[in-house]
Amino acid sequence: MSLIRNCIIEKNNNKIPIWFMRQAGRYLPEFREIRKKNPNFIELCLNKNLVPEITLQPIKRFKLIDAAIIFSDILMIPHGLGQKVEFKKDFGPILNKVDINKISKISEKEFTKNLMPVYDSMKIISSNEIIKTKDKIGFVGAPWTLLVYMINQKSPKKKIAKEILDDNLLIKSLLNIIDRFTKLHIKNQIDNGATLIQIFDSWAGLLKKENEISELIYNPTLSLVNYVKSFNVPVICFPREIKNYKEFCEIIKPDVVNIDYNVNPKEIVKNIKIPVQGGLDPKILLTDKETLKKETIKYLEIFKDHPYIFNLGHGVLPETNPGMVEYLVQTVKEFK
Ligand code: CP3
Repeated sequence: MSLIRNCIIEKNNNKIPIWFMRQAGRYLPEFREIRKKNPNFIELCLNKNLVPEITLQPIKRFKLIDAAIIFSDILMIPHGLGQKVEFKKDFGPILNKVDINKISKISEKEFTKNLMPVYDSMKIISSNEIIKTKDKIGFVGAPWTLLVYMINQKSPKKKIAKEILDDNLLIKSLLNIIDRFTKLHIKNQIDNGATLIQIFDSWAGLLKKENEISELIYNPTLSLVNYVKSFNVPVICFPREIKNYKEFCEIIKPDVVNIDYNVNPKEIVKNIKIPVQGGLDPKILLTDKETLKKETIKYLEIFKDHPYIFNLGHGVLPETNPGMVEYLVQTVKEFK
């Protein structure tokens, strides 16, 4: 059994598993090399030769990490639905205005065909020898975060743009479509070898009102979590900066919750019963080895009697030195 499954299923925390959100990406020179020659990010995510190669880059470099996460993006769903998505350098994603009539007409067959290279890549990754005993992580964006991108057409500012919540009818129909096709995207990844699913709700922290959190985060996320569980595949939720992690866990009951770096890990360990993942501020990797070790041990000590998967409180930053990531892996693996 993989170390991560051992932690999730057996609640065993003798050996702490470790992987990183955004472990395949711009901080790796071997990724930047490929990226330079592939200016279109969506096309890169649909390249079934390069996606497996990029996905396995961090596994080859840091031999002891316990999972590969497929190199892809949460915005592949709007792309698969026919909403145009582009990535502008130093700006982020830009989406065309959503055409609800057009995307309502997309069939499941067409969607799967549009994203077939993602699923082919997952199959190639999962059959690679070097990942045999490790987990293969598939992922999706949570419905709320996808809704934010599909309506706002770019990353939102700290304060939520009022327009996102303005059009109730649009939200209702979009949530319906997102639920259907996110489930299909999950199924297609599992059918092709994903052994774990992570749900990224990067903008969960934007909502503060109880009724909005219920309608836009809890209900739609619960629908996906129960769907993943029906395959007997564990599901990790990352409701970044959500107001109340304890309430989230009690209502959603994911197999694992990933915490962000603004939440106090001591409160989490006291209040949350399920396995926990992550927490360390990715900015700590930009400091020095001594600070990194101290902060890493802090998390390891706090969670020493709790099932814990080491990860960060958000993705690895592009300016990170891979040597610091290596040192972090080593520190975690040598603990105890
Ligand atoms: O974790 C991994 O290594 C797998 C790959 C992965 C990417 N995006 C690749 C990527 C994952 C898991 C994601 C998830 C994702 N994408 C999220 C949720 C996690 C989070 O960071 O909050 C979100 C919100 C997106 C949408 C997105 N994609 C944004 C806002 C951006 C631009 C800003 C940024 O963070 O880079 C992207 C682009 C993106 N996705 C890149 C990568 C490697 C950078 C592309 C480049 O080379 O320019």
